[in-house]
Amino acid sequence: MSESSLPGGFVNHVVRVGATVRRPASASTEFVAELLRFLEVHGWGGAPRYLGLDEDGREVLTYLDGHVAWEREQPSAVHSEEGLLLVTRLVREFHDLTAGTELAGSQEVVCHNDLAPKNTVYRSVDGALRPVAFIDWDLAAPGARIHDVAHVCWQYIGLGPRVRDIDDSARRLLLVADAYELADQDDLIPAILWWQDRCWRGIEAAARAGDQAMIGLRAAGAVTEVQAAWQWVLNHRDVLARALR
Ligand SMILES: Nc1ncnc2c1ncn2[C@@H]1O[C@H](COP(=O)(O)OP(=O)(O)O)[C@@H](O)[C@H]1O
Ligand SMILES: [Mg+2]
Repeated sequence: MSESSLPGGFVNHVVRVGATVRRPASASTEFVAELLRFLEVHGWGGAPRYLGLDEDGREVLTYLDGHVAWEREQPSAVHSEEGLLLVTRLVREFHDLTAGTELAGSQEVVCHNDLAPKNTVYRSVDGALRPVAFIDWDLAAPGARIHDVAHVCWQYIGLGPRVRDIDDSARRLLLVADAYELADQDDLIPAILWWQDRCWRGIEAAARAGDQAMIGLRAAGAVTEVQAAWQWVLNHRDVLARALR
């Protein structure tokens, strides 16, 4: 069957073959396979199904029909409050499913660790584009709930110098924290800063070590962009925190 490259990958070369996608296997393949099987057994529809390895040793996953929001310009529904609310509920669902399981180990839950519009499948539901699933689970690992929640805030609210209406961003932070029923809202902004700092340092270190994908990301401006986002959140942390409980 013929292969077609899928757009929107920032690290891996992902192709579609019929009703499946193929991704390069990695050190995380075994964990991701177990996690996706676990989510399947529990009937959770927010992730692709893991179907095994193909003859070339690549991961085989189900192709999820819909719109993946990887481009900068997006239909307004992607950035709507309703969309943010639904993303948050999806996150809460898979966190609750994995809480207390072997997959989460000694941590609270399994975190996705790269929740962002570019890793979200949106589909038309009752005539409106809505988030229905997350892809790109290869960074998933045991972790703290607040880490994914903070990543959601950073990526889906777009916290950084592009923000035009800081009050609106602050309101959306509260919306996520409340919709998730996050226990420790005081820790949310420090967790966002932690992610942003960790992210640019991670790209920088991997690029220095010769990782081609990270060299590409750095050349495309990812390090300076994330540093600017970190600085912006730091500068505005008081205004943002005031919205939280
Ligand atoms: N299961 C899937 N269903 C539909 N499209 C997918 C699926 N997995 C990946 N894609 C498409 O392939 C692109 C790259 O996949 P992704 O897993 O995000 O790779 P990367 O690790 O490079 O970011 C996505 O932007 C999306 O368009
Ligand atoms: Mg991706």
